[in-house]
Amino acid sequence: MEKVNVDFLPDQKSANVEVGSNLLKAAHAAGAHINASCGGIGTCGQCKVFIEKGKYESKRSEKLTEEEWNMGYRLACQTTVLSDCTVIIPAESKLDRSVLKRKEAVKEEKSFGLTASKITIEDIFEASPVVTKRYVELSKPTIENNIADLSRLILGLKKQYDYENLEVDFKCLKNLANTLRNADWKVTALILEKEGQIPKIIGVEEGNTEESFYGVAIDVGTTTLYVQLLDLKNRTVLAESSDYNPQISYGEDVITRILYGIKPGGLERLQEVVIKSLNSLINETVKEANIDKSKISIIVFAGNTTMTHLLLGLNPKYIREDPYVPTVNFFPFIRAKNLGFDVADHVYLYPAPLIASYVGGDIVAGVMACGIHQTQELILFIDVGTNGEIVLGNSDWMVTASCSAGPAFEGGGVKYGMRATRGAIENVIIDRETLEPTIFTIGKVKPKGICGSGMIILIAELFEAGIITPDGKFLKNLGTKRVREGESGYEYVLAWKEETQIGVDLVITEVDIDNIIRTKGAIYAGCSVLLKSVGLDFTNIDKFIIAGGFGSFINIEKAIIIGLLPEIPVEKFMYVGNSSLAGARLMAFSKDKLLEAEKCANMMTNIELSNYSSFMEEYVASLFLPHTNLNNFPGVMGKIKKG
Ligand code: FES
Repeated sequence: MEKVNVDFLPDQKSANVEVGSNLLKAAHAAGAHINASCGGIGTCGQCKVFIEKGKYESKRSEKLTEEEWNMGYRLACQTTVLSDCTVIIPAESKLDRSVLKRKEAVKEEKSFGLTASKITIEDIFEASPVVTKRYVELSKPTIENNIADLSRLILGLKKQYDYENLEVDFKCLKNLANTLRNADWKVTALILEKEGQIPKIIGVEEGNTEESFYGVAIDVGTTTLYVQLLDLKNRTVLAESSDYNPQISYGEDVITRILYGIKPGGLERLQEVVIKSLNSLINETVKEANIDKSKISIIVFAGNTTMTHLLLGLNPKYIREDPYVPTVNFFPFIRAKNLGFDVADHVYLYPAPLIASYVGGDIVAGVMACGIHQTQELILFIDVGTNGEIVLGNSDWMVTASCSAGPAFEGGGVKYGMRATRGAIENVIIDRETLEPTIFTIGKVKPKGICGSGMIILIAELFEAGIITPDGKFLKNLGTKRVREGESGYEYVLAWKEETQIGVDLVITEVDIDNIIRTKGAIYAGCSVLLKSVGLDFTNIDKFIIAGGFGSFINIEKAIIIGLLPEIPVEKFMYVGNSSLAGARLMAFSKDKLLEAEKCANMMTNIELSNYSSFMEEYVASLFLPHTNLNNFPGVMGKIKKG
């Protein structure tokens, strides 16, 4: 079959593919990230590209305007290439990796109103990784003492380090004879020492390598990947790197990802792309820290249940089918190389344990990192993404649940919703007299959409300014041309077309507001029902921890105004940032922390909210700003009345 070259600009990535190949797949092959939230079925319109040169065939899509089509824009997923092509990926179709480095500190500098304080991850513990390095100097064999090399090594280790028993990984026998002799019988053994298991020699290095002792912590999110390179000896982070999860191109949320994963070859593809990307990130950190990659000794990763299945190549089918059962909750150590990790043979990977189909290792790692299992205070922990995962409890008990929050806070289901990337509106102030908005964007550029944290502020501002009613409907005849009737009902114009990057008026519609209200309603109702399931309410909470990247950017005051968060004293709200990565890091640093994570997982009882009849009632009651039961929000109502 004839092959053609497809060049992707401005990234300058290329793929050599067969004539007739799908352009989105060619982008995958080239490693060019294109938004493709529908997984390539042509319904999201996010994979828009401009074909500068070359022959192709493309299906007409209503997702492209007449003008765009005539200019040469096409949907990558609906296009096949027939000759060498040059394709430009416009900014709005690209995943901008630099934004992943947007730190919480940035937010603190310009904190928009009231924000939660940052919880500090506990760092008082003994650094004793589950893989340990033991240096031994062995006597050389003689004709009188010619026991086998392995026996000599085991005897030496037992004598020097008081091991009762030692097992050995067959793989490390392959080079043992040469390693011992090359090193003049002075070697460092890598030993996997998990409580309850016989310690196992997994590698032998020449000389004393105790000082070069590294690990990797990974957070595999549905949207993003974060990698940290750790110095296990000194308990420090040497370097970190992040990127979008390349599986996004096969579907934005876990459900579309699962659907792709159960297609023939889909699971292998999803596993391959994520591991390829993690390999690049690990290489970046190794380069930055300038260390010997072969001295990486362990990888710990945390991910939600679907991401964990896909990374390990486990069939994800039953995660989404009633009665929602994952394949496995607690994992053995897995040889990283067998999964495709480009690391030494001796490196084992440990996945954080899972709770249920929709409460995964990211939550377990986060709960452990926040020390919920060690405090008597009652903690409510939430991680807001497409799913809202909730944990309630303390050192005695924990219950968990997940609610399908929907993608509104990640930009889905909102006309101009987008991720928190360059050009996203992240703050809005609406003048109470003129009803004119002042907008602030990430990167201080012209707006092209609005991100989740911006939406919370926007809805609160519209409500406080008296532009929308408690049920999210626009008031008419307010004397401003910003509120008008659009294609899909009433809308508010945030920026006129000449002020935007997208060349059209940037609006928020009643349908958008409705979607956001549903999302916030699901999260509030989920928390409320979980509390009620154990006979408590919001007033009993000592600390409300908001985890995840999004949590770090939530304006607490505005989130209370729209009823996403309960009206409790603001000092009870804490944000923790990426607690999943923090948990993976702690587990890599300390075998005790690894056991604590397993303990947390064992303590958590998952409840299915759908089994609680009160969930639907709570949810419906939450579909108002701030809530149907205004007694729960006295401060907000006082403010609105005064306003
Ligand atoms: Fe092409 Fe969604 S329309 S990926």
